[in-house]
Amino acid sequence: MLEPLTVHTAAEVLAWVSSRRDAVQFAGPDVAWPLTPELLVAGTSGHVPHALRDVDGRLVATGSLRRTGERVGRIGRVLVDPAARGRGWGRRMMLALLDRARDLPGIDVVELGVYTFNTAAVALYTDLGFRPTGAERSTVVAGEVWISLELRRPL
Ligand SMILES: CC(C)(COP(=O)(O)OP(=O)(O)OC[C@H]1O[C@@H](n2cnc3c(N)ncnc32)[C@H](O)[C@@H]1OP(=O)(O)O)[C@@H](O)C(=O)NCCC(=O)NCCS
Repeated sequence: MLEPLTVHTAAEVLAWVSSRRDAVQFAGPDVAWPLTPELLVAGTSGHVPHALRDVDGRLVATGSLRRTGERVGRIGRVLVDPAARGRGWGRRMMLALLDRARDLPGIDVVELGVYTFNTAAVALYTDLGFRPTGAERSTVVAGEVWISLELRRPL
């Protein structure tokens, strides 16, 4: 079940992010670096960060949701503990965030951004019905040009 990410639990999440590159990959080009638990929880204006635990109570995934328009929700900052990847936590987090978006009155579209090289995330989002809007943004990270695609799906 989704729980709110708190400053206390965010400290655990920081251990999953070892470089600015990792931080930009999951949180976008405007992310502060180095990150702190407070910055992770505060995030972008309006975003509500959530976390998921496994059956043993270990924190395994985070992700956030915010409203960007009257009818549009935006998912961001989806991140799974590197030690728990490939076991369905990213999918569970996405499905939980989509459910949470259904609780927001008026939302009928959900959007997100993903870097083109991020094959695991692109495959997950495509499988969940997200499709490119055609909008792209490029950012230079550690001397490399990273292209981020905007994806959307009906709720
Ligand atoms: C992207 C990420 C959230 C996926 O989480 P995960 O728990 O590893 O993914 P899941 O086990 O739920 O897999 C869900 C789907 O993702 C895709 N996927 C996951 N790992 C993959 C990989 N290594 N290669 C290709 N596709 C992959 C598959 O489509 C998979 O579906 P399947 O199991 O039916 O094949 C995780 O890799 C992560 O935290 N990456 C670093 C942060 C990041 O890039 N976040 C996304 C920002 S947009």
